[in-house]
Amino acid sequence: MTTLNASSKKLSQLKGDLLIIPYLDGALLNHPLVKEIEQKLKGSMASLLKKVEYKGKTGEQVNITSQGLINFDHIIVYGLGKTDKLSLECLRRAASNIQKAAGRLKAKSVTSLLSLAKLKFDTSELGQAFCEGHLLGAYQFTKYKSKPEKTTAPQTVEYVINDNKNVNSFKNGVNIGYILAQAVNFSRDLGNIGSDDKPPVQMAKHALSVKGVRTKVHYLPDLKRMGMNGIVSVGKGSIYPPVMVEMHYKPAGKIKQVIAIVGKGITFDSGGLSLKPAKSMEGMKDDMSGAGNVIGIMQAIGQMKPKGIEVRGYFPAAENMPSGSAIKPGDVYTAYNGVTVEVLNTDAEGRLALGDVLSYAIEKKPDVLIDMATLTGACLVALGELYAGILGTDQKLIEQIIASGEYCGEKFWQLPMAEEYDDDVKSSVADIKNVGGGYAGTITAALFLKRFVGNVKWAHIDIAGPSFSSKDLPYCQKGCTGFMVRTMVKYLMSL
Ligand code: BES
Ligand code: ZN
Ligand code: ZN
Repeated sequence: MTTLNASSKKLSQLKGDLLIIPYLDGALLNHPLVKEIEQKLKGSMASLLKKVEYKGKTGEQVNITSQGLINFDHIIVYGLGKTDKLSLECLRRAASNIQKAAGRLKAKSVTSLLSLAKLKFDTSELGQAFCEGHLLGAYQFTKYKSKPEKTTAPQTVEYVINDNKNVNSFKNGVNIGYILAQAVNFSRDLGNIGSDDKPPVQMAKHALSVKGVRTKVHYLPDLKRMGMNGIVSVGKGSIYPPVMVEMHYKPAGKIKQVIAIVGKGITFDSGGLSLKPAKSMEGMKDDMSGAGNVIGIMQAIGQMKPKGIEVRGYFPAAENMPSGSAIKPGDVYTAYNGVTVEVLNTDAEGRLALGDVLSYAIEKKPDVLIDMATLTGACLVALGELYAGILGTDQKLIEQIIASGEYCGEKFWQLPMAEEYDDDVKSSVADIKNVGGGYAGTITAALFLKRFVGNVKWAHIDIAGPSFSSKDLPYCQKGCTGFMVRTMVKYLMSL
């Protein structure tokens, strides 16, 4: 893994493979070292930039040879656009691009110049954003490659800040960045792993490996005894027994708020007897992304240890398979909270498993309940891969999550909790049924879940779209994204 560092060294103390000079507001970075470097290069940098008509647009890069005049083999001038348009998201993307450029040049040590005067962010936020960009951008999933390509990621990246007293604050941000990137990459790994390598009990083991939190696993006999018939029903067709996992972070001292988070953990969604077509099944190993996120978030919280905020993470893990023992369309079960559910489509399984866990979570009377789930194909159709759908019973909570997402570069779009469609989830033989009326599938799924959350302030996030990316993103390779981990941690840390 790349190590990030910060200093305020002099030019004579610096050497390495690649030097990054940012270009901002139509000029090379205003940094004392830049002037020295320009002198040493005897004007060749300026003349090359002129020759290639360099504008310094966001992401625009020019490679410059150092001709042995400074202690670096390569120099890249990196465009950051205009200060007033510069966001933390631009900086994450820049860091990821620099990470990749260093890889192409096989540069093992990278030095990047940074001056803080014009930037509106805290120094620690800068350190964090750069760190996230480097480590998330470098992520690769190679578990199944018989001959994984040798990593060309740089070993070290050093940010040279023009102002000595900010170095420590930058480093603090970098440390937070490490924690977050590791949590996101953990969630990405869990999603990318093939289904047979992460059956429910294995998911529980991953949760048990997390430090700084207390984790309890409820196995199949416990689930039966407790009346968690939603989870049991979903898992009935599989050779792997389902589980329910509770993770608990309890800070020392006075507690201001208790937040419960729940994630959908279907380790494979074949649709069950309401079998999915082959194409729709291809990506269904990642139907546990919500649960993977819970594990990642709890790992980050266990390290960041927010004061006064108690966090309870939960997930059901089950595999949805067709077999002689699978739940059948038309079957009715009694959920953990006593509500009877008619299962008309076994492919609408997430809400069955989540219902039990949501009603279990509210028994501890959390102040806020948030669930995230790859719940409906309808959400993917409506919002695509870049936006999660968000619905709930508390507008302030929804806005807090959307704002945390904006900060992290993760996008949400609110859908109405339209009570007008509530009749669509009423059943003629039981209290409710697990399919809606055909339209507004994301909303009717949320209305189903609403039967399990009591009066708690609740937000439901449908991550069917952004949990997986079918193409490379600025700092995420094609595959599982860990979308929601950083937003959730940001939300929890800002309470
Ligand atoms: N896991 C799927 C939702 C999904 C689809 C996630 C595509 C990611 C990409 C979920 O369990 C499901 O199959 N939902 C059904 C519900 C329907 C039967 C009411 C759907 O969306 O088709
Ligand atoms: Zn399904
Ligand atoms: Zn599913």
